[in-house]
Amino acid sequence: MRKILVTGAAGFIGSNFVRMVLSEHDDCFVVNLDKLTYAGNLGNLAGFLDHHNHKFVKGDICDGPLVEKIIDEHKIDSVVNFAAETHVDRSITGPKVFIETNVTGTLTLLEAARAKKLQRFVQLSTDEVYGSLGVEGKFTEQTPLSPNSPYSASKAAADHLVKAFGHTWGLKWNITRCSNNYGEYQFPEKMIPLMINNALNDKELPVYGDGLNVRDWVYVYDHCTAIWKVLTEAEAGEIYNIGGCNEKTNLEVVGLILERLGKPKSLIKHVTDRPGHDRRYAIDSSKIVEQLSWQPSVTFEEGINKTIDWYLQNQEWLRNVTSGEYKKYYDSMYSGR
Ligand code: NAD
Ligand code: DAU
Repeated sequence: MRKILVTGAAGFIGSNFVRMVLSEHDDCFVVNLDKLTYAGNLGNLAGFLDHHNHKFVKGDICDGPLVEKIIDEHKIDSVVNFAAETHVDRSITGPKVFIETNVTGTLTLLEAARAKKLQRFVQLSTDEVYGSLGVEGKFTEQTPLSPNSPYSASKAAADHLVKAFGHTWGLKWNITRCSNNYGEYQFPEKMIPLMINNALNDKELPVYGDGLNVRDWVYVYDHCTAIWKVLTEAEAGEIYNIGGCNEKTNLEVVGLILERLGKPKSLIKHVTDRPGHDRRYAIDSSKIVEQLSWQPSVTFEEGINKTIDWYLQNQEWLRNVTSGEYKKYYDSMYSGR
């Protein structure tokens, strides 16, 4: 039986990963360590919280003694680290917590993995560590790191720490660098669920700047199958880019959402741009495709339809996560912008 510590799995991608693992791999026990920040929500694990192969622990990845206790108690063999502060805009208004969780938290997990001689440490990084592209070219695993936001700088720092633990102490690691995810259970601070939520409520859709920034979209389930392949099949010490070959401008994505929901384009409002806004991301995924035979299961059009349908069918979930603190966040970020 594989026994993995999955951190941050009450969040968007982590919860999708845990649901996938528990549904498709019955030889795997998952301990899910999550602090339940504003982005973490046990509702994201509905139907799986009491699964016999799942144990939830509320806690902080910066708490070394807790991490070591979990590893001992459950005979953990590997860590998959999803836990992070993840929203670029929040890293601009308040970068400190990004350093605490993304850098110090990762360091704490690495120290525990080293002390307990774990078999593998998989770090969820991001394509944003590579910086921004011009109109041509794609990020490969060899692209030099050039992060532009406090968020991506904290993720790049964590990547360096992971590699340093491998180089210095022989820790067996992998790093994945994925492009923008979309799908079920994404918190509506991120562009796609925010626009769906606003459109459903006939509110303005705040597009930053000219709306021509490009992101390379991946359906969250496909990201999760890629992570599983890296955890179970990759050689240690390898970095894998993950992307769906779905480059779209923000205006294209917003237009599609409005069309699917039958709402008018007049809801689009161009607002002041994000400071330092990266212009274009595009991922070359050929390494994971060739070495690990990974393939995305859906096109962007199929994935976005599934996603919009999910939000339509789960408006109670949306209402829960957008009450209280979210309203304050939204006003502070968008009012008068
Ligand atoms: P998310 O913000 O939805 O979830 C993050 C989770 O981490 C939450 O459940 C939160 O409670 C938990 N958490 C935060 N601080 C913690 C701490 N100190 N200790 C324990 N738990 C803590 O994030 P996401 O979008 O699911 O991203 C998951 C990972 O994937 C992150 O490492 C992110 O950098 C990376 N990533 C995200 C994307 C994307 O498009 N969302 C793309 C590439 C990589
Ligand atoms: O590329 C991977 C990264 O993708 C992850 O590492 C990050 O955790 C994740 O947040 C995401 O970063 P982005 O900044 O690209 O995602 P976001 O959803 O915030 O924004 C996507 C694009 O939409 C970006 O060009 C900014 C724009 N945008 C975003 C918001 C929230 C808007 O135009 N309006 C908005 O209200």
